[in-house]
Amino acid sequence: MTRIAIYPGSFDPPTRGHEDLIRRALALTDRLIVAVAINPNKNPLFSVEERLTFLQHIVGNEPRIELASFSGLLADFASSRGATMVVRGLRAVSDFEYEFQMAIMNRRLNPGLESVFLVPAVDLTYLSSSLVREAAHFGGSVEGLVHPVVAQALAVRFGTDVVS
Ligand code: PNS
Repeated sequence: MTRIAIYPGSFDPPTRGHEDLIRRALALTDRLIVAVAINPNKNPLFSVEERLTFLQHIVGNEPRIELASFSGLLADFASSRGATMVVRGLRAVSDFEYEFQMAIMNRRLNPGLESVFLVPAVDLTYLSSSLVREAAHFGGSVEGLVHPVVAQALAVRFGTDVVS
């Protein structure tokens, strides 16, 4: 039986922390669906298409990874794809309560869906998309925190790219 896991998120934008989680998750499953959530209540910095393009640069040609977007419930999307595992990162205690609630709700909505929490590399535990957005917004360097394609897109978005 092929084990299919989903790594869902906003990925606005994807960071090196997300990349680290993708690598770790791939070791636990046969196929991994990295799924960008479409949330009509959020006003993202990057469109879903842009975020999928960033992720494509990040994952390259890995045949076991599929990139997707979804709207509605993760539990429904998982069952439509035959996925039985949700992968999420746990960076600090502050992540725990929200993740715990979501895992319980997802399993209630889809009893075949288990959540698995992975801890990122220790030097990435402080990293989040919102911190990256804020640093980039005020012209701070995000080098090493995101893929170069993302760093370039942030610089263009915030008008801080250097035209040579
Ligand atoms: O990267 P994020 O913003 O922490 O990801 C949160 C996400 C997208 C995984 C979560 O909000 C989600 O699964 N949204 C889809 C709707 C849903 O199923 N919510 C949880 C159960 S009500």
